[in-house]
Parts: sequence; structure tokens; C-alpha cells
Amino acid sequence: MKPDLLVVGPMYPPTLAAIDAAYTTHKLWLAPDRDAFLASIADRIDAASTSGTRGMDAATMDKLPKLKMISHFGVGVDSIDVEAAKKRGVTITNTPDVLNADVADLAIALLLAAVRRIPAGDRYVRDSRWLKGAMPLAETIQGKTLGIIGLGRIGKEIARRAQAFNLKIAYQGPNKKKDVSWPYFADPVSLAKEVDFIVASCPGGEATRGVVSRAVLEALGPTGVFVNISRGSVADETALVELLKAGKLGGAGLDVFVDEPRVPEALFAMDNVVLQPHVGSATHPTRLAMGQLVIDNLAAYFAKKPLLTPY
Ligand code: 8YV
Repeated sequence: MKPDLLVVGPMYPPTLAAIDAAYTTHKLWLAPDRDAFLASIADRIDAASTSGTRGMDAATMDKLPKLKMISHFGVGVDSIDVEAAKKRGVTITNTPDVLNADVADLAIALLLAAVRRIPAGDRYVRDSRWLKGAMPLAETIQGKTLGIIGLGRIGKEIARRAQAFNLKIAYQGPNKKKDVSWPYFADPVSLAKEVDFIVASCPGGEATRGVVSRAVLEALGPTGVFVNISRGSVADETALVELLKAGKLGGAGLDVFVDEPRVPEALFAMDNVVLQPHVGSATHPTRLAMGQLVIDNLAAYFAKKPLLTPY
């Protein structure tokens, strides 16, 4: 008999196939009546799997009184009500580390794309504007300073890559790190005043909501570039759009948005902005590795072994 498992939303197909093979899966997103579906399986569900898109709220946990474990596909667990889980004794696992390199690659790609105007150059060629004359010159990242908000696992990988591009590093976060000697700023505005570019690589959730405030973006200024591979919630998106529009912020490279997949349309027309559809970890090898952690954590839970990556 295979154990029962609630699967909250669609997943990377190879991961879902492996989960389907190992468990009797109950796919919440396919249920026409969500509440009736949860009620019909509640007495059999002690484990669930979810991802960033759907997460798990307290109301859903309330409908699953036997729930003990949530295996989350993704490192950021801000779409799960972590406090509600804690209160109910529900353990969460996530998928750290395996995505660091791909997400850091995208951060650097977005920075280069925004500063060197790569999508704008691409459009310049495709629109045959080159035939009429050379594209206006761009800025450089050489010798500039990158401020990293959130020097965690991903932030450190971004720093490592940035150094290879001759960028200097400074960072902001809740704590000064003992293992690095780069300038630390407790206050994001002070960081923004000292650097040319900022990348947000901190976790999402309440603790970091709006950390990239209007004041931070203003301090970054008309030649500054903001890159976000974290969560839309970490930045004041209204201020971001307004300042870009007014030329008070130089550019942006954005993989994440407050209400994704809805993106403020004002950004679409801006040549100094590079947009991506939340694809930091969206490569086959990384998604496979994330999925493997989801699978291995579930297997450990059902075997009553220590979880691999508890959050
Ligand atoms: C995924 C992510 O897009 O890991 C994260 O925190 O943002 C991404 O890797 C997402 O979690 C997939 O659902």
C-alpha cells in the first residue's frame, strides 16, 4: 500500500511522475470543489507537497488536522504560512543550495543586460535601426560597486561571480558576516548611497517586505540599477515604476514581481528595464535537483528518518 500524499499544485513533470509512482497522490489543483476534496481525504493526509505558486495557508492546514509535514519545491517558503505550520507542529522542508548557481547566474545576467542594454540592442538590430546609425553608448559594470541585499547562500554566489566581473562588493542584511571582509551596512539606504547597483537576494516574507524602499531606490539614483531575483515583495514596486519613469532610477533587471505573473505594464515600454518571468531556478538540471530534494524529504519523513533539508 502506497502512503497518501496531498499535492497542492502542479509540479515539474519528472518530479510529479516520481511522486505519483511512490504515493497515492491527491491533486488539489484538479479538484472542482476544493473544500469537499480536502474533507474527503483529511483523515488520510499527514504529508503534503507544494511549491511557491500555491504554498499552503492556515485555512488549508485547518482542514488537514493530521498534517505533520510539508515538502516544499523551492527555497523560499514565503507562500506557506510558516507561523501557522509551527503552531500546528507541521514541519516544512525546502530546496536550498541546489539552485544557488542558476539563480546567481541570472542575477549577473540581468545586471549585465540592464547596464549594457542587451535587450534594447537586440531590438535595435531586429528593428533595422542599426541601418540608420549606431546605437547610443551604454554604461559599464567595470570597476563599479554592487550592493547585495541578503548575503546568504545565493547572495554569496552572486558576489563570487561579481568579483570575476571586476565589481566591488558591499552588502546589507540582518547581520554582519564573519567570513567576509566586504563593507557591511545595517541600513539599506546607507548601502544604496555607497553603491552603483543593488541586487536583492534576501528571502521574501514579512521580515523583508519593502526593504528596497522608495528611499533606497532614490539613493541608488539616476545611474543606479536595481536587480531583483528574490521576491517582488522586497521592493516598493510602485516607487520602482515611478522612479524609473521619472529617470530618477537608471534601470532595473527584474525576475520577480509583487503580483506575478501580472507585471506593471508601465515597465513594458522601458528600454532600460529587463524583465524575466521568475526563471531564476528554471533550468532542467536545477529543477530536477530541487525535485529530488522534495522526493528525498518525503521519503525520509515516511521512513521516520531525519529530514534532509528542514526549513
Ligand atoms: C521557484 C523560487 O520559482 O526556490 C524558490 O524560492 O522562487 C523558485 O525556485 C518556485 O519556488 C517554484 O515553485
